[in-house]
Amino acid sequence: MAADACFPAFGRFDADSFLRDYWQKRPLLIRNPWAGWRNPLEPDELAGLACEDGVEARLVVHGADGWSLEHGPIPEDRFGELGTDPWTLLVQAVDQHVPEVAALIEPFRFVPDWRIDDVMVSYASDGGGVGPHFDRYDVFLVQGLGRRRWRVGGPCDEASELLPHGQLRLLARLDPIDEWVLEPGDILYLPPGIAHDGIAVGDDCMTYSVGFRAPSRRELLAGWAEGEPDLPGEDERYEDPDLVRQANPGEIAASALDRLYRLAGGAGERAEFARWFGEYASTPKYPEIDWRPEEPLEPGELRALAADGVPLARNPASRFCFLREGSSIVLFADGVGTECRDACAAFAERLCAETSLVLDPAAPEAVLDLVADLVNQGCLAFDEDG
Ligand code: SIN
Ligand code: CO
Repeated sequence: MAADACFPAFGRFDADSFLRDYWQKRPLLIRNPWAGWRNPLEPDELAGLACEDGVEARLVVHGADGWSLEHGPIPEDRFGELGTDPWTLLVQAVDQHVPEVAALIEPFRFVPDWRIDDVMVSYASDGGGVGPHFDRYDVFLVQGLGRRRWRVGGPCDEASELLPHGQLRLLARLDPIDEWVLEPGDILYLPPGIAHDGIAVGDDCMTYSVGFRAPSRRELLAGWAEGEPDLPGEDERYEDPDLVRQANPGEIAASALDRLYRLAGGAGERAEFARWFGEYASTPKYPEIDWRPEEPLEPGELRALAADGVPLARNPASRFCFLREGSSIVLFADGVGTECRDACAAFAERLCAETSLVLDPAAPEAVLDLVADLVNQGCLAFDEDG
């Protein structure tokens, strides 16, 4: 299948070859694959978000005396006080606040949804960056505005030597294997553990990190067995270098569940583990983005909205996924699992695949009840402006 048939945002990018040759294996520079790149967020809007309560933001300044780190909310007048030392502002989960940034995730949904974490956005002044480091998760670094020079090194692990700045976890050295200057629309993919350092070339440098997650054995055991596991040695993390594209990115595939269950030591019933994992994987990271209606939605109102063709939108902070159990499926939305059959199962699968959809007013009662529950839970809303 042609890549652009599935991912209209990318004019040219072959997801299947990418998964086979690079995913979880080695870095890749993808020169502007977008069909018309547009920076989705203005620097001022990012600064505004960083000042808000409940938004995770960091400000890193690289001064003559070394690195300093401040946590948000950042006071508004702080930006005016910044001098000539290079600095960078980083804001986590911007996709959950700005729909145009959430749309950036869409072309990367050749990776299952449960593996996607969030989109972090950074803004840097000339020379700004967060220093040489490695991350534990895969990331696509999309250059939004301005230019950034990336130096990319080899694999690191917990034994790699760090500078004595506990919070920033900077590498004592980075021996670059590759060095690239990214222009707007260019993308750098990095698998977990690869040393990297991105430095802004000129002012107004914005980078969007589409970040992934992969539970570790310790995290799985702590949640599944509800205790602090006493595991000797290094923690092992979920890996899927053999990933292939699935028909519906919302599905937690049986092959992934097998691997997760093994990682958790095969304790307990696999079916119960699968249900627990669905709840765990769909638990929102920022539940304060609350879409619950003031008054619960009544079935009559719901039918009227559906008859008017008002589209349903997913709360961008909500997490949806599903797993198959024989002929039925279990839909998970924000940590709550619901068994769905027949028309309800078909609707739930569509809901997981699409971020906005129109409800058929003639849909069976069970589908309307499911939608009402999800609206009242704050995971879905009728988008009357949409
Ligand atoms: C950045 O956007 O400046 C940092 C992203 C990263 O290195 O992970
Ligand atoms: Co990084």
